[in-house]
Amino acid sequence: MRILGIHSGHNSTAFLMEDGAVTAGLSQEKVDGIKNSAAFPIGAIESILAQVDLAPDDIDEIAMAGVQTFPSRCYDYLFHDDLNDGASRSGVVGLARRLERSALGSMAPGIFRALRRSRQKSLLTEGRIELQRHLTALHLNLAPRSHVDHHICHARAAFHGLGSETPALIFTADGSGDGVSATVTRVDEDGVWTCLGATLETESLGGLYSATTRFLGMRPLEHEYKVMGLAPYAKHYAEAVYERIFRPVIDLDPDNPFKFKTSVASRQFYDYLIHTASGERFDNIAAAVQRVLEERVIAWIRHAVKKTGIRHVYFGGGLFMNVKLNMLIQELDCLDAAYFLPSCGDESIALGAAYVAASKHGAVQPLADLYLGRPYDDSEIEQFLKSHASTAQYKIERLTNMTDRVADLLAEGSIVARFSGRNEWGARSLGNRAILAHPGYMESFFTINDQIKSRDFWMPFAPTILDRAAPRYLEDWSMKRTPAPHMITAFCATPEGRRDLCAAIHRGDNTLRPQVLTPHANPEYYALIAAFETRTGIGAVLNTSLNLHGNPLAASPAQAMETLDGSGLRYLAIGSFLVSKV
Ligand SMILES: [Fe+2]
Repeated sequence: MRILGIHSGHNSTAFLMEDGAVTAGLSQEKVDGIKNSAAFPIGAIESILAQVDLAPDDIDEIAMAGVQTFPSRCYDYLFHDDLNDGASRSGVVGLARRLERSALGSMAPGIFRALRRSRQKSLLTEGRIELQRHLTALHLNLAPRSHVDHHICHARAAFHGLGSETPALIFTADGSGDGVSATVTRVDEDGVWTCLGATLETESLGGLYSATTRFLGMRPLEHEYKVMGLAPYAKHYAEAVYERIFRPVIDLDPDNPFKFKTSVASRQFYDYLIHTASGERFDNIAAAVQRVLEERVIAWIRHAVKKTGIRHVYFGGGLFMNVKLNMLIQELDCLDAAYFLPSCGDESIALGAAYVAASKHGAVQPLADLYLGRPYDDSEIEQFLKSHASTAQYKIERLTNMTDRVADLLAEGSIVARFSGRNEWGARSLGNRAILAHPGYMESFFTINDQIKSRDFWMPFAPTILDRAAPRYLEDWSMKRTPAPHMITAFCATPEGRRDLCAAIHRGDNTLRPQVLTPHANPEYYALIAAFETRTGIGAVLNTSLNLHGNPLAASPAQAMETLDGSGLRYLAIGSFLVSKV
């Protein structure tokens, strides 16, 4: 049984599941090179079918993520530089939104609600027509058998993807999806799923965080991690901003504390900030919104655990990309185990839809790993390099001792891009499409920031740490409690970690977001870091994604070469070839 799970929307993605196991997954952004691409994932689906050598007719079932299917043009505004509603949406819609927020809007809210409903209905019709057109273009002559609710997709992706242990609680939270922004679900030992609370999109904690991201001049639904990274630099006087602006706007719903309740609708929160937060310092605002996120989510979890007695929990939805929040969650003494789905934004909902469909046909398998993209063998890479890497610019060597050669380069302080095997699904580099560096040299941080990635000065890099070295570098690390293989949660650094990994920790609070690597997860990458450890005594490397600022993680040799060409990077280890700038 072959099932294709498809998400079309913000970060469009497709997953292939064969007989209950995930065999491929790819986001459209890695095909068209547009970060969080909302184009229908035609290219991703074609690539998946090619890599497993299947024809469209070999697909038995299609499962769509999300009950509501909007046309892709609904997401265009997210890719405009000017996120002002009036400028980035159509004139009529912009005018309607401005009127809704005016005195007229508050006098006659029913008119605007009716207008919104009518517009939504016509968009959904357009979305269904567009979907069918794309499936026909792909020669997928199947109507989708299911359209799975957005938050059920988040919950199923986390639960099945990470092990399906019961009894369990599953928490989902994001900006919104299918009209909902957060859910708590109980899964009993007999497999019965019960939703204990669903928070509407108008009461969205994630929506408040995104509106704050936008207020701070960053891109909502993309740069929330920068707000999180900025927060530790605020001082204690951020407390006044929290008390005055953020604390009063959201809390648990007193009538049902499995849900959140806001005093300012999430859609109005940007305007609320203009009136209340203009003139406040950016770092104080970042710290205050991070604090309200952490306090409300922790209270939410504590309530659910107390009421149900279930201490085994799963997390999905874009809100749980917040590694600082996840750090606090994993430290909760009311939990026995906390599992965070890696890359749990909307790029994961196609996975959830595929799991829902597959579980109707039999048992499903957890994710074995996240290396779900297309591999390139040496002959393909050699052919590519012959036609795309000018010998006037590059020296190309075919090596039999690549591990030692790259370990030597890293140990002497060089920065090396690594392209190996299948590319990672999701936002994080897990070593196969990576830029690697010595984590104990601060020069690594400055060189990568200034000459390669052009990142914001306050944002930290992250390390890949050998499992055997993790206790040396991470406070309270326990493989059993939080194995941390995917850079989805943070830890405090030990004194040794602060010294050996100084270029790969957050300098505002000495935390780090590690990939703790086991030998079986990626044997070649493990061997490389072990070789680096032999030379330096450090059981870790700095690992940042192989891309230029604002681009998605590279997937193909062409994208890797673009990164080498367009930056101050000198070395690219690609397959068995070492490409060096001359
Ligand atoms: Fe979502």
